[in-house]
Amino acid sequence: MANVMVTGASSGLGAAIAKQFASRGDRLVVVARRESLLENLQVELLDSGAPSAEYRVVDLADAEQVQNLANELPKLGIEVLINNAAFGHWDYTWDTTPEMMRSMIAVNVTAVAVLTAAFSQLKHQQAARLMNVASGAGYALFESSIPYSATKFFVTALTEGLAQELASQKQAMRAQLLAPGPIATEFMLNALDGSQMPTSEKDLEGFQFHTAEEVAEFAMQLYDSEAMVGAVQPDMTFLLSEGLHAVGKLTG
Ligand SMILES: NC(=O)c1ccc[n+]([C@@H]2O[C@H](COP(=O)([O-])OP(=O)(O)OC[C@H]3O[C@@H](n4cnc5c(N)ncnc54)[C@H](OP(=O)(O)O)[C@@H]3O)[C@@H](O)[C@H]2O)c1
Repeated sequence: MANVMVTGASSGLGAAIAKQFASRGDRLVVVARRESLLENLQVELLDSGAPSAEYRVVDLADAEQVQNLANELPKLGIEVLINNAAFGHWDYTWDTTPEMMRSMIAVNVTAVAVLTAAFSQLKHQQAARLMNVASGAGYALFESSIPYSATKFFVTALTEGLAQELASQKQAMRAQLLAPGPIATEFMLNALDGSQMPTSEKDLEGFQFHTAEEVAEFAMQLYDSEAMVGAVQPDMTFLLSEGLHAVGKLTG
């Protein structure tokens, strides 16, 4: 039985991953901004078999709130951290406002980086687990979503690099990277909200989506495996691998 924290658990993939851990009998701490959704999830997690389920209302765009959450990790005894919270915005870079750029980087990059560093400082010598959620867009660039992709490239590089350093330095903790393809959640509609893109280009018909529950099952396949990366492929299959970013040495 592990103490598991899932960020971005008020909806979509994060909620589905939290339910997977609950059904395995793990203790949950779920994090997001929308308190009423977290309250409902707390009841569902307890019903699904979690011996305890707490929530934290945190705006991960706010540096002080992220630091407070990081400071709580030891007190909560978190042994498994799933950094899942993120959002996208679909626009050309020149149509992306400074405010949007700042908040996307704050949530998708800074919060993930701060929580990853805090968790690995605490836990690198223990059999703890970190899973960071990136995207296919963390390995390949797609039109009208370049700033979002850039935030996810950060997550793939940080997580693959950390996973290799933990292994090479013979630390007990493991880091894994989940890279979903399109998921039928609120994410895409939020990403199009306020976009300058022409309506025709906003058409999501023709997109193939997994459900959040399907991707949560992929997350558990990755969690149960020795692999470093679990990524949805262009044909929508799920592939476990040792990742794409090999760590070299700075000097010969
Ligand atoms: N959906 C896709 O097509 C897709 C594809 C590839 C990768 N992904 C990745 O999968 C992960 C989950 O996405 P999803 O599809 O489940 O999206 P979602 O349903 O929109 O969920 C995003 C979660 O992040 C939380 N969040 C957003 N901004 C936050 C903030 N400032 N502070 C705290 N929490 C915040 C949201 O909660 P609150 O609003 O309550 O704060 C929500 O719980 C993300 O990392 C995303 O990049 C998604």
